[in-house]
Amino acid sequence: MRILKTQTLRGPNYWSIRHPNLILMRLDLEDLADRPSDQLPGFYEALADTLPSLIEHFCSPGHRGGFLSRVRQGTYMGHIVEHVALELQTLAGMPVGFGRTRGTVEPGVYQVVFEYQNEQAGRYAARAAVRLCNSLVETGHYAKAELEQDLADLEDFRLDAALGPSTEAIVRAAESKDIPWLQLPTRAMIQLGYGRYQQRVQATLSSKTSILAVELASDKEGTKQILRDAGVPVPRGTVVYYLDELEEAINAVGGYPIVVKPLDGNHGRGITIDINTYKVAEEAYEAAKDVSNGVIIERFYRGRDHRVLVVDGRVVAVAERVPAHVVGDGQSTIEQLIEITNQDPRRGEGHDNLLTRIEVDRTTWQLLERKGYTLDTVLSKGEVCYLRATANLSTGGIAIDRTDDIHPDNVWLCQRIAKTIGLDIAGIDVVTTDITKPIRQVDGVIVEVNAAPGLRMHICPSQGIARNVAEPILAMLFAPGTPARIPVIAITGTNGKTTTTRLTAHIFRQTGQVVGYTTTDGIYIGDNLVEPGDTTGPQSAQVILQDPTVEVAVLETARGGILRSGLAFKDCDIGVVLNVAADHLGLGDIETVDDLAHLKA
Ligand SMILES: Nc1ncnc2c1ncn2[C@@H]1O[C@H](COP(=O)(O)OP(=O)(O)O)[C@@H](O)[C@H]1O
Ligand SMILES: [Mg+2]
Repeated sequence: MRILKTQTLRGPNYWSIRHPNLILMRLDLEDLADRPSDQLPGFYEALADTLPSLIEHFCSPGHRGGFLSRVRQGTYMGHIVEHVALELQTLAGMPVGFGRTRGTVEPGVYQVVFEYQNEQAGRYAARAAVRLCNSLVETGHYAKAELEQDLADLEDFRLDAALGPSTEAIVRAAESKDIPWLQLPTRAMIQLGYGRYQQRVQATLSSKTSILAVELASDKEGTKQILRDAGVPVPRGTVVYYLDELEEAINAVGGYPIVVKPLDGNHGRGITIDINTYKVAEEAYEAAKDVSNGVIIERFYRGRDHRVLVVDGRVVAVAERVPAHVVGDGQSTIEQLIEITNQDPRRGEGHDNLLTRIEVDRTTWQLLERKGYTLDTVLSKGEVCYLRATANLSTGGIAIDRTDDIHPDNVWLCQRIAKTIGLDIAGIDVVTTDITKPIRQVDGVIVEVNAAPGLRMHICPSQGIARNVAEPILAMLFAPGTPARIPVIAITGTNGKTTTTRLTAHIFRQTGQVVGYTTTDGIYIGDNLVEPGDTTGPQSAQVILQDPTVEVAVLETARGGILRSGLAFKDCDIGVVLNVAADHLGLGDIETVDDLAHLKA
């Protein structure tokens, strides 16, 4: 078997409207063209043994085991490659199910189509599926190590391309509101909506986020000054740049216990809290100095750590964060308990997953030493042992939803703080013993204000109610009644596409709107030529849909582009098929007028 060609479809296409993401592979079965699976001794057993989970594929029989029964009865290799490619992706954490296999006019050459979630993984799965089937046919065997390698590579593709949990939540919310979205080619930016109505997000920074506010928020000392002047309770503190300023600073904030942290750090890096000796303060200074030039010396406020999420001036969720910890079971050592905790599938590296794996670091040793513990200490049943000082999720902390517990005064205060700093989406860190009471009453403080706050602690808390916090972000970007789409008119047909497109664009221009249109002789916005050439494919259409000035899109859509990668849009307002004639048949396996009609339809 040999792959002749592989194409990646990215939009509604000849094979499916609802499954836009498809790999189309042209496969030459060569000597297997006349040998269905029932005529390949041992092939069925080898396949079922190598990929036992294929039992879950229904296929045309329409029941569990349906596909494998077809392999036993006899089916051709193209069909088998289709199912293997789907199963390899599914086993690597990308569940996909749609597939088609069709013969071509060339004997033994098939079009094999299967769904993908990640393009590179899809293309890899095509090659791996052929490699696996070829090996089973030739040797009756496929090395376990090779299969594991395939799955590991596929998983890497998935992880590399995965949207962060916050971005993922926002695009899912957009889909639920039928707002089109597309990933821009740089800086993990997402475009929501089309044309002049588009908005952009980069995680939880939006096109409405003020850079002044972001700059201010990332300067902890600047933020405290602004909030202090606004009468907001913030930690008493100062900033030092040299070690010999440390002692005086400690006295200035009223002595121990103190906190030492980097001036512009984040994710809990370089922070030491609850310091009670000069020796530890000095070590903490060095640790903070590794992260930033300025070092904050602050009074340490006892209490629990809370994150209040404010969107468009309203508190939408509150999470209490608990630092990374383990709970004793009376037998296991602390090290074993960490291992057990990290086996939780929700725990991953960095910010990719809902929770982050617990890593042992400098602060862990300090905390254990303070208790006279080591990693070999066995904790008594139910005993809690904290492994990190700060409660950041990015250092293995967990979150408890407290949205319904926060005191109305604290709600008002946090909404005022977000406005004072000027952030449309703000994550406010509050340390207080009791969030159900006004923080002023219980000596609570606002520790910092975060721009681009993570959403995972609210979307998927370890305890309490999950909050759909992406919803208010979408409502802020697209206020009720505000369109997210511009009218899209798509025109195809064998003849007359360009004329009709120009005519339609001309008519819309009379309304005074900015019309963007693609034709066989160029992309135009208004009267201006953006790009000359045969621009009737999906990329050209994207130029129009991504342009922030365009109010109406008129897209000449030729067969070539549809065949090559599908349509550039999930749906359009008006679809025009002018005519279908026997023109250039045979290209792209479009052999008949019916095929052509199906494609243009
Ligand atoms: N002055 C303080 N008193 C008590 N806890 C503090 C203080 N400063 C920081 N913390 C704790 O450390 C965590 C991280 O500090 P923060 O200033 O938010 O830095 P980062 O930007 O790294 O998140 C806070 O969420 C809080 O739990
Ligand atoms: Mg913080």
